Amino acid sequence: MRKRLEALAEKAAALEPNAYEQKQLLNKSTDYTGRFLDSIYEQKAYTRFDDSVNSILEDPIDEEPCNPDQLIYDIENRVVPPGLNPASGAHFAYIPGGGLFTSALGDYITAITNRYAGVYYSSPGAVALETRLINWMAELIGFGEEAGGYLSSGGSIANLTAVVTAREDAGLKAADYPRAVVYLSEQAHHCVDRGLAIAGMQECIKRYIPLDSHSRMLSEEVEQAIQKDKENGLIPWMVVASGGTTDTGAIDPLEEIGEIAARHKVWYHIDAAYGGFFLLTDEGKEKLKGIARADSVVLDPHKGLFLPYGSGALVVKNLEKLAGAHRYEANYMQDTKIQSGVYSPADISPELSKHFRGLRLWMPLKLHGVKAFRSALEEKLLLARYAWQKLDEMPEIEVGHEPELSVFTFRWAPANKETDLDILNEELHKRMTDKGTVFLSTTRINDEFRFRFVVLSVRSHLEQIDLFLEELSKHIRAIKNSAEI
Ligand SMILES: Cc1ncc(COP(=O)(O)O)c(C=O)c1O
Repeated sequence: MRKRLEALAEKAAALEPNAYEQKQLLNKSTDYTGRFLDSIYEQKAYTRFDDSVNSILEDPIDEEPCNPDQLIYDIENRVVPPGLNPASGAHFAYIPGGGLFTSALGDYITAITNRYAGVYYSSPGAVALETRLINWMAELIGFGEEAGGYLSSGGSIANLTAVVTAREDAGLKAADYPRAVVYLSEQAHHCVDRGLAIAGMQECIKRYIPLDSHSRMLSEEVEQAIQKDKENGLIPWMVVASGGTTDTGAIDPLEEIGEIAARHKVWYHIDAAYGGFFLLTDEGKEKLKGIARADSVVLDPHKGLFLPYGSGALVVKNLEKLAGAHRYEANYMQDTKIQSGVYSPADISPELSKHFRGLRLWMPLKLHGVKAFRSALEEKLLLARYAWQKLDEMPEIEVGHEPELSVFTFRWAPANKETDLDILNEELHKRMTDKGTVFLSTTRINDEFRFRFVVLSVRSHLEQIDLFLEELSKHIRAIKNSAEI
Protein backbone atom coordinates (compact mmCIF):
# COMPACT_ATOMS: atom_id res chain seq x y z
CA MET A 1 0.00 0.00 0.00
CA ARG A 2 2.84 2.43 0.83
CA LYS A 3 4.32 1.93 -2.63
CA ARG A 4 0.97 2.61 -4.26
CA LEU A 5 0.49 5.74 -2.13
CA GLU A 6 3.93 7.04 -3.07
CA ALA A 7 3.19 6.47 -6.73
CA LEU A 8 -0.12 8.31 -6.48
CA ALA A 9 1.50 11.23 -4.63
CA GLU A 10 4.10 11.47 -7.36
CA LYS A 11 1.42 11.70 -10.04
CA ALA A 12 -0.70 14.15 -8.01
CA ALA A 13 2.38 16.37 -7.52
CA ALA A 14 1.48 17.89 -10.88
CA LEU A 15 -1.16 19.86 -8.96
CA GLU A 16 1.58 21.75 -7.13
CA PRO A 17 3.72 23.78 -9.52
CA ASN A 18 7.20 24.48 -8.13
CA ALA A 19 8.52 28.02 -7.64
CA TYR A 20 9.86 28.21 -11.19
CA GLU A 21 6.63 26.90 -12.71
CA GLN A 22 4.59 29.28 -10.57
CA LYS A 23 6.63 32.21 -11.88
CA GLN A 24 6.12 31.04 -15.45
CA LEU A 25 2.35 30.73 -15.04
CA LEU A 26 2.16 34.02 -13.17
CA ASN A 27 4.12 35.78 -15.89
CA LYS A 28 1.83 34.41 -18.58
CA SER A 29 -1.25 35.45 -16.60
CA THR A 30 0.01 38.93 -15.76
CA ASP A 31 1.29 39.43 -19.33
CA TYR A 32 -2.32 38.93 -20.40
CA THR A 33 -3.89 41.10 -17.67
CA GLY A 34 -1.24 43.74 -18.42
CA ARG A 35 -2.24 43.72 -22.11
CA PHE A 36 -5.88 43.91 -21.03
CA LEU A 37 -5.35 46.91 -18.76
CA ASP A 38 -2.99 48.69 -21.17
CA SER A 39 -5.70 48.68 -23.83
CA ILE A 40 -8.74 49.14 -21.60
CA TYR A 41 -9.47 52.70 -22.72
CA GLU A 42 -9.46 51.59 -26.37
CA GLN A 43 -11.50 48.43 -25.91
CA LYS A 44 -15.13 48.19 -26.87
CA ALA A 45 -17.69 48.50 -24.12
CA TYR A 46 -19.79 45.82 -25.83
CA THR A 47 -18.91 43.13 -28.38
CA ARG A 48 -21.77 41.50 -30.26
CA PHE A 49 -21.52 37.73 -30.41
CA ASP A 50 -23.05 34.80 -32.20
CA ASP A 51 -23.50 31.09 -31.48
CA SER A 52 -19.82 30.40 -32.07
CA VAL A 53 -19.22 31.42 -28.43
CA ASN A 54 -20.94 28.22 -27.45
CA SER A 55 -18.10 26.20 -28.95
CA ILE A 56 -16.73 26.48 -25.39
CA LEU A 57 -19.47 24.02 -24.43
CA GLU A 58 -17.72 21.43 -26.59
CA ASP A 59 -14.20 22.10 -25.33
CA PRO A 60 -12.59 18.88 -24.18
CA ILE A 61 -11.61 18.55 -20.53
CA ASP A 62 -8.75 16.17 -21.09
CA GLU A 63 -6.90 13.63 -19.02
CA GLU A 64 -3.65 15.28 -20.06
CA PRO A 65 -2.53 18.83 -19.22
CA CYS A 66 -2.94 21.44 -21.92
CA ASN A 67 -0.46 23.95 -23.22
CA PRO A 68 -0.66 27.03 -20.91
CA ASP A 69 -0.08 29.43 -23.82
CA GLN A 70 -3.08 27.94 -25.62
CA LEU A 71 -5.10 28.24 -22.42
CA ILE A 72 -4.30 31.95 -21.99
CA TYR A 73 -4.94 32.48 -25.71
CA ASP A 74 -8.42 30.97 -25.36
CA ILE A 75 -9.23 33.05 -22.29
CA GLU A 76 -8.04 36.21 -24.04
CA ASN A 77 -9.69 35.54 -27.36
CA ARG A 78 -12.67 33.28 -26.84
CA VAL A 79 -13.88 33.65 -23.27
CA VAL A 80 -13.42 37.27 -22.23
CA PRO A 81 -14.24 39.43 -25.29
CA PRO A 82 -17.85 38.61 -26.25
CA GLY A 83 -20.63 40.62 -24.62
CA LEU A 84 -20.44 43.38 -22.08
CA ASN A 85 -17.08 44.74 -20.95
CA PRO A 86 -17.70 45.79 -17.34
CA ALA A 87 -14.08 46.89 -16.97
CA SER A 88 -14.59 49.62 -19.60
CA GLY A 89 -15.22 53.22 -18.61
CA ALA A 90 -17.61 53.50 -21.57
CA HIS A 91 -19.94 51.02 -19.85
CA PHE A 92 -22.94 53.12 -18.83
CA ALA A 93 -25.46 50.28 -18.57
CA TYR A 94 -27.20 48.42 -15.72
CA ILE A 95 -25.02 49.29 -12.72
CA PRO A 96 -21.38 49.57 -13.78
CA GLY A 97 -18.54 48.66 -11.45
CA GLY A 98 -15.00 48.45 -12.65
CA GLY A 99 -12.62 45.96 -11.07
CA LEU A 100 -9.79 47.57 -9.14
CA PHE A 101 -6.31 46.19 -9.71
CA THR A 102 -5.60 46.21 -5.97
CA SER A 103 -8.73 44.17 -5.36
CA ALA A 104 -7.41 41.53 -7.74
CA LEU A 105 -4.27 41.36 -5.61
CA GLY A 106 -6.50 40.73 -2.61
CA ASP A 107 -8.20 37.87 -4.46
CA TYR A 108 -4.85 36.42 -5.43
CA ILE A 109 -3.55 36.40 -1.86
CA THR A 110 -6.93 35.10 -0.68
CA ALA A 111 -6.86 32.13 -3.02
CA ILE A 112 -3.24 31.23 -2.29
CA THR A 113 -3.56 31.45 1.50
CA ASN A 114 -7.10 30.04 1.45
CA ARG A 115 -8.15 31.13 4.95
CA TYR A 116 -11.37 29.63 6.26
CA ALA A 117 -13.17 32.94 6.57
CA GLY A 118 -16.51 31.61 7.81
CA VAL A 119 -15.41 30.75 11.33
CA TYR A 120 -13.41 32.76 13.90
CA TYR A 121 -11.83 29.65 15.38
CA SER A 122 -10.38 28.77 11.97
CA SER A 123 -9.24 32.21 10.88
CA PRO A 124 -9.62 34.93 13.49
CA GLY A 125 -7.68 37.30 11.25
CA ALA A 126 -10.04 36.88 8.29
CA VAL A 127 -13.13 37.14 10.50
CA ALA A 128 -11.81 40.19 12.38
CA LEU A 129 -11.03 41.85 9.07
CA GLU A 130 -14.52 41.20 7.69
CA THR A 131 -16.00 42.46 10.97
CA ARG A 132 -13.89 45.62 10.77
CA LEU A 133 -15.12 46.29 7.23
CA ILE A 134 -18.74 45.76 8.25
CA ASN A 135 -18.29 48.04 11.27
CA TRP A 136 -16.85 50.70 8.94
CA MET A 137 -19.98 50.41 6.78
CA ALA A 138 -22.18 50.53 9.89
CA GLU A 139 -20.45 53.75 10.97
CA LEU A 140 -20.99 55.16 7.48
CA ILE A 141 -24.70 54.41 7.77
CA GLY A 142 -24.82 55.88 11.27
CA PHE A 143 -25.69 52.68 13.12
CA GLY A 144 -24.61 52.25 16.75
CA GLU A 145 -22.55 49.73 18.69
CA GLU A 146 -25.03 46.87 18.32
CA ALA A 147 -24.78 46.83 14.53
CA GLY A 148 -23.13 44.15 12.46
CA GLY A 149 -23.47 42.19 9.28
CA TYR A 150 -21.58 40.13 6.75
CA LEU A 151 -20.00 40.29 3.33
CA SER A 152 -22.10 38.50 0.73
CA SER A 153 -21.53 37.64 -2.90
CA GLY A 154 -23.74 40.54 -4.00
CA GLY A 155 -26.87 42.58 -3.44
CA SER A 156 -29.37 39.87 -4.32
CA ILE A 157 -28.16 37.48 -1.64
CA ALA A 158 -27.82 40.30 0.90
CA ASN A 159 -31.43 41.34 0.24
CA LEU A 160 -32.58 37.73 0.59
CA THR A 161 -30.82 37.49 3.96
CA ALA A 162 -32.52 40.70 5.06
CA VAL A 163 -35.93 39.24 4.17
CA VAL A 164 -35.20 36.08 6.16
CA THR A 165 -33.95 38.10 9.14
CA ALA A 166 -37.06 40.30 9.10
CA ARG A 167 -39.28 37.22 8.85
CA GLU A 168 -37.63 35.54 11.83
CA ASP A 169 -37.62 38.74 13.87
CA ALA A 170 -41.37 39.02 13.38
CA GLY A 171 -41.77 35.37 14.35
CA LEU A 172 -43.84 34.71 11.23
CA LYS A 173 -44.78 31.12 10.51
CA ALA A 174 -46.04 29.75 7.18
CA ALA A 175 -49.66 30.00 8.32
CA ASP A 176 -49.17 33.76 8.83
CA TYR A 177 -47.78 34.50 5.37
CA PRO A 178 -51.10 35.15 3.62
CA ARG A 179 -51.79 37.90 6.19
CA ALA A 180 -48.25 39.32 6.34
CA VAL A 181 -47.83 42.53 4.36
CA VAL A 182 -44.67 43.92 2.80
CA TYR A 183 -44.71 47.55 1.60
CA LEU A 184 -42.54 48.38 -1.37
CA SER A 185 -42.24 50.32 -4.58
CA GLU A 186 -42.76 49.12 -8.15
CA GLN A 187 -39.22 50.44 -8.58
CA ALA A 188 -37.72 48.13 -5.94
CA HIS A 189 -35.09 45.84 -7.44
CA HIS A 190 -36.57 42.53 -8.59
CA CYS A 191 -34.24 40.64 -6.26
CA VAL A 192 -36.45 41.72 -3.34
CA ASP A 193 -39.43 39.98 -4.91
CA ARG A 194 -37.26 36.99 -5.72
CA GLY A 195 -35.91 37.05 -2.16
CA LEU A 196 -39.46 36.80 -0.86
CA ALA A 197 -40.10 33.85 -3.17
CA ILE A 198 -36.89 32.05 -2.16
CA ALA A 199 -37.72 32.70 1.50
CA GLY A 200 -40.97 30.83 0.86
CA MET A 201 -43.05 33.98 1.28
CA GLN A 202 -44.55 34.36 -2.16
CA GLU A 203 -48.00 34.21 -0.56
CA CYS A 204 -47.46 37.31 1.54
CA ILE A 205 -49.29 40.45 0.50
CA LYS A 206 -47.18 42.91 -1.51
CA ARG A 207 -48.47 46.43 -1.18
CA TYR A 208 -47.05 48.58 -3.96
CA ILE A 209 -47.01 52.15 -2.69
CA PRO A 210 -47.88 54.96 -5.14
CA LEU A 211 -44.89 57.03 -6.27
CA ASP A 212 -44.34 60.74 -6.81
CA SER A 213 -43.23 62.17 -10.17
CA HIS A 214 -39.60 61.29 -9.27
CA SER A 215 -40.43 57.61 -8.66
CA ARG A 216 -40.17 57.95 -4.86
CA MET A 217 -42.62 56.25 -2.52
CA LEU A 218 -45.14 58.62 -1.00
CA SER A 219 -44.60 58.27 2.73
CA GLU A 220 -48.16 59.27 3.62
CA GLU A 221 -49.36 56.37 1.45
CA VAL A 222 -47.16 54.01 3.47
CA GLU A 223 -48.75 55.31 6.66
CA GLN A 224 -52.27 54.94 5.32
CA ALA A 225 -51.64 51.45 3.94
CA ILE A 226 -50.24 50.22 7.26
CA GLN A 227 -53.14 51.76 9.20
CA LYS A 228 -55.69 50.17 6.93
CA ASP A 229 -54.03 46.77 7.00
CA LYS A 230 -53.90 46.83 10.79
CA GLU A 231 -57.59 47.67 10.95
CA ASN A 232 -58.28 44.73 8.64
CA GLY A 233 -56.47 42.29 10.89
CA LEU A 234 -53.45 41.89 8.60
CA ILE A 235 -49.82 41.81 9.78
CA PRO A 236 -47.79 44.79 8.52
CA TRP A 237 -44.40 43.19 8.57
CA MET A 238 -41.74 44.84 6.43
CA VAL A 239 -41.19 48.07 4.51
CA VAL A 240 -38.59 48.04 1.75
CA ALA A 241 -37.27 51.42 0.65
CA SER A 242 -34.56 52.20 -1.89
CA GLY A 243 -31.38 54.18 -1.37
CA GLY A 244 -31.12 54.70 -5.12
CA THR A 245 -33.33 52.66 -7.45
CA THR A 246 -31.82 50.78 -10.34
CA ASP A 247 -33.96 52.39 -13.02
CA THR A 248 -33.71 56.07 -12.12
CA GLY A 249 -31.59 56.36 -8.97
CA ALA A 250 -34.64 57.51 -7.00
CA ILE A 251 -34.16 57.71 -3.24
CA ASP A 252 -37.30 57.12 -1.21
CA PRO A 253 -38.01 59.52 1.68
CA LEU A 254 -35.89 57.47 4.04
CA GLU A 255 -36.39 59.59 7.15
CA GLU A 256 -40.18 59.80 6.93
CA ILE A 257 -40.67 56.14 6.06
CA GLY A 258 -38.32 55.19 8.89
CA GLU A 259 -40.38 57.16 11.35
CA ILE A 260 -43.56 55.42 10.18
CA ALA A 261 -41.98 51.95 10.29
CA ALA A 262 -40.69 52.55 13.81
CA ARG A 263 -44.06 53.80 15.04
CA HIS A 264 -45.81 50.70 13.70
CA LYS A 265 -42.97 48.35 14.71
CA VAL A 266 -42.47 47.15 11.15
CA TRP A 267 -39.04 45.96 9.98
CA TYR A 268 -37.47 48.71 7.89
CA HIS A 269 -35.16 47.55 5.13
CA ILE A 270 -33.28 49.84 2.77
CA ASP A 271 -31.81 48.49 -0.43
CA ALA A 272 -28.85 50.80 -1.03
CA ALA A 273 -26.95 48.28 -3.15
CA TYR A 274 -26.45 50.91 -5.83
CA GLY A 275 -26.53 54.19 -3.92
CA GLY A 276 -25.16 53.30 -0.50
CA PHE A 277 -21.50 54.18 -0.92
CA PHE A 278 -22.38 57.70 -2.05
CA LEU A 279 -22.57 58.14 1.73
CA LEU A 280 -18.84 58.78 1.46
CA THR A 281 -19.65 62.10 -0.23
CA ASP A 282 -21.28 65.13 1.40
CA GLU A 283 -23.96 65.18 -1.27
CA GLY A 284 -24.74 61.49 -0.83
CA LYS A 285 -24.90 61.88 2.94
CA GLU A 286 -27.45 64.63 2.57
CA LYS A 287 -29.53 62.72 0.03
CA LEU A 288 -29.50 59.48 2.00
CA LYS A 289 -30.42 61.20 5.25
CA GLY A 290 -32.54 58.91 7.37
CA ILE A 291 -30.74 55.73 6.30
CA ALA A 292 -29.73 55.13 9.94
CA ARG A 293 -33.40 54.58 10.77
CA ALA A 294 -33.27 51.26 8.93
CA ASP A 295 -33.19 47.87 10.61
CA SER A 296 -31.16 46.53 7.71
CA VAL A 297 -29.25 48.02 4.78
CA VAL A 298 -27.75 46.41 1.69
CA LEU A 299 -24.63 47.96 0.16
CA ASP A 300 -22.70 46.59 -2.81
CA PRO A 301 -18.94 47.18 -2.86
CA HIS A 302 -18.94 45.68 -6.37
CA LYS A 303 -20.95 48.71 -7.41
CA GLY A 304 -20.11 51.81 -5.38
CA LEU A 305 -16.56 50.82 -4.39
CA PHE A 306 -15.62 49.60 -7.89
CA LEU A 307 -14.73 46.06 -6.82
CA PRO A 308 -14.87 43.14 -9.21
CA TYR A 309 -18.15 41.19 -9.04
CA GLY A 310 -18.72 39.06 -5.98
CA SER A 311 -18.99 41.65 -3.20
CA GLY A 312 -22.16 42.72 -1.44
CA ALA A 313 -22.91 43.45 2.20
CA LEU A 314 -25.81 43.28 4.60
CA VAL A 315 -25.55 45.56 7.62
CA VAL A 316 -28.17 45.34 10.36
CA LYS A 317 -28.83 47.68 13.25
CA ASN A 318 -28.92 44.83 15.74
CA LEU A 319 -26.52 42.00 15.02
CA GLU A 320 -28.31 39.69 17.46
CA LYS A 321 -31.28 39.63 15.08
CA LEU A 322 -29.12 38.46 12.19
CA ALA A 323 -27.65 35.79 14.45
CA GLY A 324 -31.13 34.80 15.60
CA ALA A 325 -32.17 34.10 12.03
CA HIS A 326 -29.12 31.99 11.18
CA ARG A 327 -28.46 29.86 14.25
CA TYR A 328 -27.42 26.27 13.70
CA GLU A 329 -26.10 23.34 15.65
CA ALA A 330 -23.87 20.57 14.33
CA ASN A 331 -21.79 18.15 16.36
CA TYR A 332 -18.88 18.34 13.97
CA MET A 333 -18.67 22.12 14.62
CA GLN A 334 -18.36 21.82 18.39
CA ASP A 335 -14.65 22.78 18.48
CA THR A 336 -15.42 26.10 16.82
CA LYS A 337 -17.71 27.33 19.58
CA ILE A 338 -15.17 29.47 21.42
CA GLN A 339 -15.64 32.77 23.22
CA SER A 340 -14.21 35.43 20.96
CA GLY A 341 -16.38 38.52 21.28
CA VAL A 342 -16.72 38.43 17.50
CA TYR A 343 -19.49 36.71 15.56
CA SER A 344 -18.33 34.32 12.86
CA PRO A 345 -19.89 35.00 9.44
CA ALA A 346 -21.09 31.36 9.46
CA ASP A 347 -23.23 32.18 12.52
CA ILE A 348 -24.95 35.16 10.95
CA SER A 349 -25.34 34.26 7.26
CA PRO A 350 -26.27 31.30 5.05
CA GLU A 351 -22.71 30.28 4.11
CA LEU A 352 -20.35 28.04 6.05
CA SER A 353 -17.22 27.67 3.93
CA LYS A 354 -16.83 31.06 2.38
CA HIS A 355 -14.54 33.04 0.19
CA PHE A 356 -12.28 35.30 2.25
CA ARG A 357 -14.07 38.27 0.75
CA GLY A 358 -12.65 40.87 3.06
CA LEU A 359 -9.21 41.11 1.50
CA ARG A 360 -10.47 42.19 -1.94
CA LEU A 361 -11.98 45.25 -0.21
CA TRP A 362 -9.39 45.72 2.52
CA MET A 363 -6.47 46.03 0.14
CA PRO A 364 -7.94 48.82 -2.04
CA LEU A 365 -9.26 50.74 0.99
CA LYS A 366 -5.90 50.58 2.75
CA LEU A 367 -3.68 51.08 -0.28
CA HIS A 368 -5.62 54.00 -1.81
CA GLY A 369 -7.21 55.51 1.28
CA VAL A 370 -10.86 56.45 1.56
CA LYS A 371 -10.33 59.89 0.05
CA ALA A 372 -9.57 58.40 -3.39
CA PHE A 373 -12.94 56.62 -3.30
CA ARG A 374 -14.67 59.79 -2.15
CA SER A 375 -13.18 61.75 -5.07
CA ALA A 376 -14.15 59.05 -7.56
CA LEU A 377 -17.73 59.01 -6.27
CA GLU A 378 -17.98 62.81 -6.32
CA GLU A 379 -16.67 62.67 -9.89
CA LYS A 380 -19.42 60.18 -10.88
CA LEU A 381 -22.15 62.40 -9.40
CA LEU A 382 -20.83 65.37 -11.32
CA LEU A 383 -20.31 63.42 -14.55
CA ALA A 384 -23.93 62.27 -14.48
CA ARG A 385 -25.10 65.86 -14.06
CA TYR A 386 -22.77 67.00 -16.86
CA ALA A 387 -24.10 64.32 -19.22
CA TRP A 388 -27.69 65.16 -18.28
CA GLN A 389 -27.14 68.88 -18.96
CA LYS A 390 -25.49 68.20 -22.33
CA LEU A 391 -28.36 65.94 -23.37
CA ASP A 392 -30.89 68.46 -22.12
CA GLU A 393 -29.31 71.03 -24.44
CA MET A 394 -29.72 68.73 -27.45
CA PRO A 395 -32.93 69.77 -29.21
CA GLU A 396 -34.35 66.31 -29.95
CA ILE A 397 -33.41 64.59 -26.72
CA GLU A 398 -36.02 64.28 -24.02
CA VAL A 399 -34.33 63.72 -20.67
CA GLY A 400 -35.92 62.26 -17.56
CA HIS A 401 -35.61 64.18 -14.33
CA GLU A 402 -32.18 65.41 -13.27
CA PRO A 403 -30.12 62.61 -11.71
CA GLU A 404 -30.54 62.26 -7.99
CA LEU A 405 -27.30 60.25 -7.93
CA SER A 406 -25.66 59.01 -11.13
CA VAL A 407 -28.56 57.47 -13.11
CA PHE A 408 -31.05 59.10 -15.43
CA THR A 409 -33.13 58.17 -18.47
CA PHE A 410 -33.60 59.81 -21.82
CA ARG A 411 -34.94 59.13 -25.28
CA TRP A 412 -34.60 60.56 -28.75
CA ALA A 413 -37.83 62.39 -29.56
CA PRO A 414 -37.68 64.16 -32.93
CA ALA A 415 -40.55 66.49 -33.69
CA ASN A 416 -42.04 64.37 -36.50
CA LYS A 417 -45.31 63.20 -34.98
CA GLU A 418 -45.54 60.22 -37.37
CA THR A 419 -42.53 58.54 -35.84
CA ASP A 420 -42.99 55.68 -33.40
CA LEU A 421 -40.51 56.74 -30.72
CA ASP A 422 -40.19 53.26 -29.24
CA ILE A 423 -39.15 51.79 -32.59
CA LEU A 424 -36.83 54.70 -33.28
CA ASN A 425 -35.08 54.44 -29.93
CA GLU A 426 -34.79 50.67 -30.22
CA GLU A 427 -33.09 51.18 -33.58
CA LEU A 428 -30.75 53.78 -32.06
CA HIS A 429 -29.91 51.44 -29.20
CA LYS A 430 -29.27 48.56 -31.58
CA ARG A 431 -26.92 50.61 -33.73
CA MET A 432 -24.98 51.88 -30.71
CA THR A 433 -24.72 48.37 -29.29
CA ASP A 434 -23.62 46.91 -32.64
CA LYS A 435 -20.80 49.41 -32.73
CA GLY A 436 -20.04 48.86 -29.04
CA THR A 437 -17.83 51.93 -28.51
CA VAL A 438 -20.10 52.85 -25.62
CA PHE A 439 -22.76 50.68 -24.02
CA LEU A 440 -26.07 51.73 -22.50
CA SER A 441 -29.02 49.63 -21.41
CA THR A 442 -32.69 50.50 -21.77
CA THR A 443 -35.84 50.29 -19.72
CA ARG A 444 -39.51 51.14 -19.86
CA ILE A 445 -40.83 54.10 -17.87
CA ASN A 446 -44.57 54.81 -18.10
CA ASP A 447 -44.59 52.22 -20.85
CA GLU A 448 -42.11 54.19 -22.95
CA PHE A 449 -38.86 52.75 -24.23
CA ARG A 450 -36.04 54.81 -22.70
CA PHE A 451 -32.28 54.70 -22.48
CA ARG A 452 -30.79 54.41 -19.01
CA PHE A 453 -27.55 56.25 -18.50
CA VAL A 454 -25.56 55.27 -15.41
CA VAL A 455 -22.10 56.48 -14.44
CA LEU A 456 -20.39 54.34 -11.86
CA SER A 457 -17.39 52.79 -13.53
CA VAL A 458 -14.13 53.76 -11.90
CA ARG A 459 -12.81 54.34 -15.43
CA SER A 460 -15.57 56.73 -16.55
CA HIS A 461 -14.21 60.25 -16.79
CA LEU A 462 -15.01 63.36 -18.79
CA GLU A 463 -13.43 61.81 -21.89
CA GLN A 464 -15.80 58.81 -21.80
CA ILE A 465 -18.85 61.06 -21.36
CA ASP A 466 -17.79 63.18 -24.33
CA LEU A 467 -17.28 59.97 -26.31
CA PHE A 468 -20.81 58.89 -25.45
CA LEU A 469 -22.28 62.26 -26.51
CA GLU A 470 -20.36 62.10 -29.80
CA GLU A 471 -21.47 58.51 -30.48
CA LEU A 472 -25.09 59.34 -29.73
CA SER A 473 -25.08 62.33 -32.09
CA LYS A 474 -23.29 60.31 -34.77
CA HIS A 475 -25.84 57.49 -34.69
CA ILE A 476 -28.78 59.88 -34.66
CA ARG A 477 -27.31 61.60 -37.75
CA ALA A 478 -26.84 58.23 -39.45
CA ILE A 479 -30.45 57.20 -38.82
CA LYS A 480 -31.67 60.59 -40.02
CA ASN A 481 -29.64 60.27 -43.21
CA SER A 482 -31.09 56.86 -43.92
CA ALA A 483 -34.72 57.74 -43.25
CA GLU A 484 -37.16 60.60 -43.41
CA ILE A 485 -37.09 61.82 -39.84
C1 LIG B 1 -30.80 48.62 -6.13
C2 LIG B 1 -30.26 47.24 -6.40
N1 LIG B 1 -30.52 46.26 -5.53
C3 LIG B 1 -30.06 45.01 -5.72
C4 LIG B 1 -29.32 44.69 -6.83
C5 LIG B 1 -28.85 43.26 -7.03
O1 LIG B 1 -27.49 43.23 -6.74
P1 LIG B 1 -26.54 42.06 -7.31
O2 LIG B 1 -26.56 42.21 -8.79
O3 LIG B 1 -25.24 42.40 -6.69
O4 LIG B 1 -27.08 40.77 -6.87
C6 LIG B 1 -29.05 45.67 -7.78
C7 LIG B 1 -28.30 45.36 -8.99
O5 LIG B 1 -28.14 46.13 -9.88
C8 LIG B 1 -29.52 46.99 -7.55
O6 LIG B 1 -29.29 47.97 -8.42
